Amino acid sequence: ALVTLNDILPQAKQAGYAVGHFNINGLIWPQAILEAAQEAKAPVIIASSDRLVDYLGGFKLISNMVRNLMEVQQITVPVVLHLDHGQSVERCFEAIDAGYSSVMYDGSHFPIDENIKNTKQVVDYAHVNGVSVEAEIGTVGGYEDGLIGNICYANLRECVELVEKTRVDALAAALGSVHGKYVGEPKLGFKQMAEISKEVEIPLVLHGASGIPLDQLQRSIRLGHAKININTEMNIAWREALQQSLVENPEVYEPKKLLELSKQAIKETVHEKIQEFGSSNKA
Ligand code: 13P
Ligand code: ZN
Ligand code: NA
Repeated sequence: ALVTLNDILPQAKQAGYAVGHFNINGLIWPQAILEAAQEAKAPVIIASSDRLVDYLGGFKLISNMVRNLMEVQQITVPVVLHLDHGQSVERCFEAIDAGYSSVMYDGSHFPIDENIKNTKQVVDYAHVNGVSVEAEIGTVGGYEDGLIGNICYANLRECVELVEKTRVDALAAALGSVHGKYVGEPKLGFKQMAEISKEVEIPLVLHGASGIPLDQLQRSIRLGHAKININTEMNIAWREALQQSLVENPEVYEPKKLLELSKQAIKETVHEKIQEFGSSNKA
């Protein structure tokens, strides 16, 4: 059965490791993510970005797919099915109704009062249904909600107010991370992170973690990040392996054969990240 963020993040934060959140972009992603998590005995978060939900077949199909894969692959580690960057209150409700065990409501582009009001609506509905909620303050750089956003640092006072008023379960406080690749070395706001970490008791979430070097990931984990989001690094590995398959097998046109190497590449990336986050053998 699926679990919520509350079943896995508080103990991760307490023990000083983070649980990996991995985005899916097609069938081979959840297959590879579940295989890796089971082998590593790691709790795991499978996420579908709201902007890809319809492309992937809709909430119900994704929910059924992940549940069926867990059965077929005999998965025994804790798995969260999470909506990533939920674009509206209604979309979060849809995900909950379809059986997701966790949702992120991303109201970070709204003024704080509206973000709080909408997040609270999502939390009220989610909590009566046994579903956890992640909220966001500040802006992650790069591609978010279909917009190319400028990095905007989370404000400490707003973080404290939102957590108190909404009773949200996890908070993404954006502090310089970027979705997709980084141009140059990432520079996370560790000074602000330390301040937020001191005042906010719930687990923090690190978005845009692909491309962040290990030392900065570890520093973020020490400062209260118990959920780390990875999408791009899996997709770069997928692309490189697919390219290699195509070049090495010019006569092959069977998708299964051509995609086998890319699935392995996704799986290896998930394994690496689980090691980096310290979540292996924590299931
Ligand atoms: P990356 O694409 O940089 O890994 O970010 C993933 C993310 O934040 C998903 O919400
Ligand atoms: Zn994100
Ligand atoms: Na990134």
